[in-house]
Amino acid sequence: MHALTAPTDTDIRFRTATEDDGDALVGLISLVDLQLRAEDVPAALAPMRHALTDSDDGPLSHRRNHFLIAENGEGDAVGAITCGPAKWMSDPNRSPAIMWRKLAERISTVHGLAVVPAYRNQGIARALLHHVEETFRDAGYTVLTLRHNRSLTRFYQQLGYTSHNRLSLTLPTGELLSLLDRGWKHAFKVLSPTAAITTVQGMPTITGALSD
Ligand SMILES: CC(C)(COP(=O)(O)OP(=O)(O)OC[C@H]1O[C@@H](n2cnc3c(N)ncnc32)[C@H](O)[C@@H]1OP(=O)(O)O)[C@@H](O)C(=O)NCCC(=O)NCCS
Repeated sequence: MHALTAPTDTDIRFRTATEDDGDALVGLISLVDLQLRAEDVPAALAPMRHALTDSDDGPLSHRRNHFLIAENGEGDAVGAITCGPAKWMSDPNRSPAIMWRKLAERISTVHGLAVVPAYRNQGIARALLHHVEETFRDAGYTVLTLRHNRSLTRFYQQLGYTSHNRLSLTLPTGELLSLLDRGWKHAFKVLSPTAAITTVQGMPTITGALSD
């Protein structure tokens, strides 16, 4: 477990999640509008709970996933962020199967970010995102992506993310991968100088994310 310094002057501290945090993480991430029926939320979050048993000594808290919790002075979890490979990376209909490993080593996705209502507007979400950006940058990742509801466009733009209907990415072959998820927007931020966001076919597009 890594204790991280709180960037605010409150008594909030940030730590990676452990197997015991399953219920707290599920409770927090259930605050996100996952665009699912309430009864389908537990099943959707089951892989996250399962991944919590994967703890290892790598740069991320749980193999290819990274789970960070913000807790108050009483040790209660008041915010969380969960990151890992995106589903589209392992979907052969959406990205070439041969690219899976490279995609999962260079690009990560924020699956959930939430702060309990009483602790909002104190910079906790900003700090959680900032911490995971640093962690993934240090681990050699080039880009962080996420899907969000339209209402959060300004929130992510303020935090340095480019927000667009499509997630567009050039592959090392020169091919353009462009994903559209109905009802969602995609946001992405470059973590490394090897990657950039440029306009391709009129869309903001991630380039250089997978180059050697
Ligand atoms: C969205 C959420 C995570 C923000 O958490 P937070 O800790 O209150 O956010 P922060 O205090 O770090 O805010 C960072 C900046 O974004 C702004 N902001 C916060 N919530 C916002 C919102 N819903 N829309 C637009 N801007 C917002 C803040 O004003 C702040 O800007 P400032 O630095 O200029 O004051 C929180 O409202 C939440 O848990 N919502 C429910 C779950 C959710 O929707 N998560 C997003 C999943 S994609």
